Amino acid sequence: MNHEIDTLREWIAGSDNIVFFGGAGVSTESGIPDFRSVDGLYHQQYRYPPETIISHSFFAANPEEFYRFYRDKLVVRGARPNRAHLRLAELEREGKLRAVITQNIDGLHQAAGSREVIELHGSTLRCYCERCGKRYPVETVNDSEGVPRCDCGGVIRPDVVLYEEGLDEQNLRKAIGYIREADVLIVGGTSLIVYPAAGLINYYRGNKLVLVNLSETPRDSEADLLVRGRIGEVFSQV
Ligand code: APR
Repeated sequence: MNHEIDTLREWIAGSDNIVFFGGAGVSTESGIPDFRSVDGLYHQQYRYPPETIISHSFFAANPEEFYRFYRDKLVVRGARPNRAHLRLAELEREGKLRAVITQNIDGLHQAAGSREVIELHGSTLRCYCERCGKRYPVETVNDSEGVPRCDCGGVIRPDVVLYEEGLDEQNLRKAIGYIREADVLIVGGTSLIVYPAAGLINYYRGNKLVLVNLSETPRDSEADLLVRGRIGEVFSQV
């Protein structure tokens, strides 16, 4: 892996237009399990499959069960940014990285100091009334019991994209714009199997597509540089 890291270090040193696209694997070194690794969320046993629970129709039909799972498994308490989050924020401060595009909902990139962060799947740090749209402090959902209700009677929900829901069009447009113009696109900590997010890398037109991942992904063969390893460790060396 050292040769690959030397190349990645060179590409980073030589660019002022780097874009990062990441997933749950970026936060595992902060103690947050990902979804599809052997110890990931989707391999743990529940009454319903997790992908069923975090869907729009399940949320509408069984809000109590949804909130039990959501507060227990998706709300992050006490996790800290790791070396990958911190290095990405530093690269942005150095004027080398233009944007972080993430599928994560844990807010750790912003906690690390990143400013241009596009949260394709929303964030557990925001919530709103699904009837009137009124925004509420995050504690209204994360630190309460049962199904939180708005003054208007509507259900207050987390600002996360559930299965069966579309991604924010403006976020998608911004993400595509950054990726299309990127000199170096670093994709890390994602299995690249959930669309439309995973499809965004198709917009990359450069010749420095970097994949940093612990396990294989369906797009490995397209990488100009493949780094098989723990992303926090890799980013601490570039
Ligand atoms: N360093 C590098 N890669 C890692 C690390 C690490 N420390 N830890 C895990 N990985 C890799 C795993 O090998 C896996 O390929 O990160 C990937 C995480 O994949 P998933 O668990 O599928 O997470 P992600 O790709 O973000 O899932 C996409 O699926 O359920 C939806 O909305 C959810 O945003 C999520 C989306």
